[in-house]
Amino acid sequence: MARKIMRHTIQVTLEKNSYPVSVGSGLLQEPAIFMPHVHGHQVCIVTQKNIADFYLAKVLSAFSEYQCGVIFLPEGEQHKNLTEWGKIMTILLEKGHDRSATLIALGGGMVGDMTGFAAACYQRGVNYIQMPTTLIAQVDAAIGGKTGVNHSLGKNMIGAFYQPQCVVADIDTLQTLPPREFHAGLAEVIKYALIRDIDFLDWLENHIADVLSRKKEALLHMITTCVSHKAALVTADERDHGVRRLLNLGHTFAHAIETLSSYESILHGEAVAMGLCLAAQHSVNLGWLTTTDLERIQSLLLTCHLPCELPLHLTLEQLMTAMKKDKKNQHGKLTLILLKKLGEGVCV
Ligand SMILES: NC(=O)c1ccc[n+]([C@@H]2O[C@H](COP(=O)([O-])OP(=O)(O)OC[C@H]3O[C@@H](n4cnc5c(N)ncnc54)[C@H](O)[C@@H]3O)[C@@H](O)[C@H]2O)c1
Repeated sequence: MARKIMRHTIQVTLEKNSYPVSVGSGLLQEPAIFMPHVHGHQVCIVTQKNIADFYLAKVLSAFSEYQCGVIFLPEGEQHKNLTEWGKIMTILLEKGHDRSATLIALGGGMVGDMTGFAAACYQRGVNYIQMPTTLIAQVDAAIGGKTGVNHSLGKNMIGAFYQPQCVVADIDTLQTLPPREFHAGLAEVIKYALIRDIDFLDWLENHIADVLSRKKEALLHMITTCVSHKAALVTADERDHGVRRLLNLGHTFAHAIETLSSYESILHGEAVAMGLCLAAQHSVNLGWLTTTDLERIQSLLLTCHLPCELPLHLTLEQLMTAMKKDKKNQHGKLTLILLKKLGEGVCV
């Protein structure tokens, strides 16, 4: 019997810096996928200790002939800041990395965002490769070149658009992801279905048991579908002035929830889940969605062990004040992504 294909490659096509996103099983052990994108002889892998325990040796084995350093970041969104970012810069300088160096982000969205921003700024820009190891990073954060850090006054307020050389999403890494982190990633997955793919929403509802038990075939289909949507939106609108903004469904609410929670206690994906419900409720209020649509969204989120209600310490008024500071707002006007219908997002 023919073996099932366990990998796909999706191209992000841009005027400058087009690159492939490989999605599949066993990719970290296949240097042929990422080595053509490593230029120069200096490599620095940025990761976290718990991720390194599982995957660092696999990646390091490709670089025995290179000057290869490793930088460990602390865990947690509260460390995605300029202080930790500055430490990456210091280590790169101390180790004598030059402009031909390649940085490798081996980790989740936090590692990817910080490594990408370090690559954007170190000696005015060096190459980097994304090796995402969380669901959020594989379906979203590692693709599209949004890099940056948080400020105590706002999420992702300091950063740059800076595209990687390639993205290597090895779905096997998701097997070690803690359940809460895996579930948080499903909020971003559901987002794609809501903004532009009603068939994918049906697929998710019908295959959610396989997804939750992390069956490889289900993961491959789900992640490849999300990556294809992300690549299409980034290709159409790299700088986030048009259709790419649809990806922010639920995120204006989510960023405010995260900022008000000091980036602790609530995971990004959990905040997105609450934001999806608030955006859907708003769409119901405008007569665009029915209450049955809203219940369908809430039911899928709850099946994925995601929250649909705001945490008790937050009020809607606090949220609205924080949302006015969102960087997507223009000329003081709040920008929201809502749903015209299921599978069709709209920017208002
Ligand atoms: N740049 C973008 O376009 C974009 C898009 C979405 C989200 N983001 C950002 O991504 C971040 C959230 O990303 P995240 O959810 O990946 O969080 P994260 O990077 O903080 O990772 C979550 C936790 O999982 C651990 N972990 C990672 N991979 C693991 C694995 N395979 N096995 C075991 N443990 C593992 C990490 O050490 C960490 O403790 C936020 O900062 C968010 O703003 C960026």
